[in-house]
Amino acid sequence: MYPIWEVPNLTAGIILAVIATFHILPSHLSTSAMWFNVYIETKAYKEDKPELLEFIRKYSLLLLVFAYVTGSLSGIGIWYAATVANPRGISGLIHNYVWGWATEWVFFIIEVTGILMVVIVGILAFMLSPGKWIETGNFFDGFFNKTYWSQLLVRTTLMFAIAAVYAIAAAARLKNEEVRKFIIKTASKWGLAGLLLGGTAFFWYLKTIPAAGQELIQTFAPQGLKTGIIASFVLLLFYFIYANLKPLTIRLVTAVLAIAVLFAGIWSTERMREIIRKPYVISQYMYSNQIIGNDIASKNVTSETNLINQKGILAVSPFVPEPLRVVNDANMIEAGKLIARIECLSCHTLDKSGLRPMPQMVERRGFTDAEEMKVFLEGLDGYAYMPPFMGKKKKKNALANYLVSLNR
Ligand code: HEC
Repeated sequence: MYPIWEVPNLTAGIILAVIATFHILPSHLSTSAMWFNVYIETKAYKEDKPELLEFIRKYSLLLLVFAYVTGSLSGIGIWYAATVANPRGISGLIHNYVWGWATEWVFFIIEVTGILMVVIVGILAFMLSPGKWIETGNFFDGFFNKTYWSQLLVRTTLMFAIAAVYAIAAAARLKNEEVRKFIIKTASKWGLAGLLLGGTAFFWYLKTIPAAGQELIQTFAPQGLKTGIIASFVLLLFYFIYANLKPLTIRLVTAVLAIAVLFAGIWSTERMREIIRKPYVISQYMYSNQIIGNDIASKNVTSETNLINQKGILAVSPFVPEPLRVVNDANMIEAGKLIARIECLSCHTLDKSGLRPMPQMVERRGFTDAEEMKVFLEGLDGYAYMPPFMGKKKKKNALANYLVSLNR
């Protein structure tokens, strides 16, 4: 275990989600925009239309400044934030996929020029559906898992919609009306194709999600995220159709609004992917709170739940202030808060606002009595989306007392 990164009113996970969602724009753009550029540039030379090169210049500048600079910065930002938000999760991934990442970094230039995310998708999909890897521990069993191909297809098709949204934005202020019209019309066609193919692939992707995830989508996933996905899809669909019919009416403001819609759609889809992985950060292996929940015999990894239940979470975690190692009446609430930080903070803020605020959760259930709260903690493993409470009786008592103190 590592020290805990507590972000008041937000949670570390949300910081990571903001950076990662943003990163999708430049990363997908840098792989797709090249194809659009190649198409336009070929046309410019073959049909002797040098005026098209004005667009190429503008779009390439956008790519250089936006995609390459902010893309690499936010890519490093993901590593940085993920390493402090969930160090053991990242460590688990590195132990399995260090050669995967090495491959990605060595061939980064190829990736940027269009081969796309064939490597990173393997690792992302692994976190959602590790499949046979759980038994075999084999690199490729984990890599080419159930959601690999479907997710790769969704990302590869939708990246053309992203390229189109940005191409329209880059073209919106071109002085030459003919060029502006041609680029916006062409980009909107690419966008429509990407969106429709991506939408179709999305249904396949939904089908490949493991049963537990399917169930979470049905029963629990927030309606807001589902609406976000559908609404952004429909809005972009209309945007591309409108841009195709009336290219010259598109202003930079409209194009920027379309980028905002794109961001909202990506945010909803990526948040959904995180939610259907619950209660794990790496499905079937490590809980969101970084405790290993299952034996992975082939990797010599053993579940930590028994150990924690026998010794208590404050006894086995290395980063615990000495006075809190042993719970007594005097330090009860403080110890309870630390247990909440270790076991619950990955999904709940302990403040009054932010991600699933704990005071609100406790209040909603009307818990005021520590005994009642303890019964709830005992039943935590009955929730499909929360890990069980792990620890000894005294720790449970401390946590229960801390939790009800939030509802006073
Ligand atoms: C893997 C993520 C995750 C972890 C870790 C987690 N929870 Fe939750 N918890 C959730 C989700 C998701 C909900 C549902 C939120 C909602 O309905 O708005 C929830 C809901 C709750 C509720 C309200 C339950 C209800 O039926 O109304 C309580 C109380 C709660 N959690 C307590 C805890 C405690 C205590 C811990 C730590 C021991 C914990 N949670 C750890 C994800 C988690």
